[in-house]
Amino acid sequence: MATHAEFNNTTAATEVAATFGSQIKGRTVVITGISPEGIGAATALAVASQEPANLILASRTESKLATVVSDISEKYPAVPIKSIILDLASSDSIKSAAAEINSVADHIDVLINNAGLTLKSRQPVKTPGGTTVDLQFSINHLGTFLFTSLLLPKVIAAGANAPKGSTRVVNVGSHAHRLSPIRFSDYALYRAPYDVPEAERPPTGVSDAMIRSIDGYPGFIGYGQSKTANILHAMELKRRLEKAGANAIAVAVHPGTIDTGLSRDLDEGGRKAIEGTAVNGVFKTLDQGAATTIVGAFDPKLAEVEVEGPLYLADCQYRTVLGAHAADPVAAERLWAETEKMLEITCL
Ligand SMILES: NC(=O)c1ccc[n+]([C@@H]2O[C@H](COP(=O)([O-])OP(=O)(O)OC[C@H]3O[C@@H](n4cnc5c(N)ncnc54)[C@H](OP(=O)(O)O)[C@@H]3O)[C@@H](O)[C@H]2O)c1
Repeated sequence: MATHAEFNNTTAATEVAATFGSQIKGRTVVITGISPEGIGAATALAVASQEPANLILASRTESKLATVVSDISEKYPAVPIKSIILDLASSDSIKSAAAEINSVADHIDVLINNAGLTLKSRQPVKTPGGTTVDLQFSINHLGTFLFTSLLLPKVIAAGANAPKGSTRVVNVGSHAHRLSPIRFSDYALYRAPYDVPEAERPPTGVSDAMIRSIDGYPGFIGYGQSKTANILHAMELKRRLEKAGANAIAVAVHPGTIDTGLSRDLDEGGRKAIEGTAVNGVFKTLDQGAATTIVGAFDPKLAEVEVEGPLYLADCQYRTVLGAHAADPVAAERLWAETEKMLEITCL
C-alpha cells in the first residue's frame, strides 16, 4: 500500500519535507543521534527546512552536535534549536536529558529515536534490574525505551490538541532486524547464534557473513536483536497508546544502506557485509537516507493505515517486516514487560 506512490528509494528527505511542509511548520520535534556524517543530521536539516517551532537535538558528542547545530543555524537562522547532551548508555544521562527537554517543551509533536550503534566486540552490561545484556541492546533499545518513556507525557500532551495520528514516535530500526529475534534466554549473546531455543535463532537464509562471530561474539546478531527490539517497541507502543486513548502513533523505519559513522567499529569483513546490503551496491546519500524517517514522522496518510503488526516503512513506503519475529505480538508484549523489569520502571 503506497501513501505517496511517487516516493521511492532515491527520494530525498528535503523533498519529502517540502511535500509535508504544513505538517512540520510550527511543530516541536526531538531527534536523537546527531553527528555531521549521520542520518540524524540529515533528518534535522530536512525538518529545519520547513519552519518547525522548535528543533531539539540530543546526542552524546558535544562537538559533533555543535557542528550540526551551527550548520543548520547558518542555513535556517530563524529555527530555534536546543542542543541536549544524551548518552543512551547511561540512565543518569538519559534522565537528565529528558528532564531538560521536559523543562523547555510543554509538548512534543514528534520524537525521532535515531541514535544507534554497531559493535564488533562483546561488551556486556548489567541493567538496573540485574539482567546482563549486550551493549548494542542496551544503547539501541533500553536507552531508547527509557528516553521515550520519560518524554511520553509530553508526546501524549501534544496529541490532545493535534489532528488524528499526527503526533508520533519514530524508531529508526533496520532491515537488519531479520538477522535475529529477541534472545530472551541470552540477551548478552554468550551463546552461539544457533545454540539457543529455536524461536531465538536467525531465520533461514541469513548469510554466513552476518552470522559470523569474532572471538565468540556474533556482533551482527546483536545488532539485529537490537533493531528487532526497536520495531517491537514501536509496535507495542502504538498498541498501548491506542489502548490508553492517546492520540499518538508509533512507527518504525528502515533508512536504507548509507555510508555513515555506523560502521566505524567494524573490521573489513564487517564493512563488506554492510556494503552487500546496498541496493545494486549503491549507498543512499544522507539526504536519501533520512527520507523514510521524514515520511514516518510527517506523512498524514500514515495515520489512516491500519495494520496488525508494526507500522514499518522502507524506501518511503509501508512494508511488512522481513522477519516475522519482528511482528510477533507475544514477543512485543514480553519484550515490553522484560524491558520494564530491566530498567525498573513502569511505562503506560
Ligand atoms: N547507515 C545505515 O546504513 C543504516 C541502516 C539501517 C539502520 N540504520 C540506523 O540509522 C540510525 C542512524 O545511524 P547512522 O547510520 O546515521 O550512524 P551514525 O552516523 O553512527 O549515527 C548514529 C548516531 O547515534 C549516536 N549515538 C551512538 N551511540 C549513542 C549513545 N550511546 N547515546 C547517544 N547517541 C548515540 C552517534 O553519536 P556519536 O557520533 O557521537 O557516536 C550518532 O550521532 C541508527 O539507529 C542505525 O541503526 C542505519
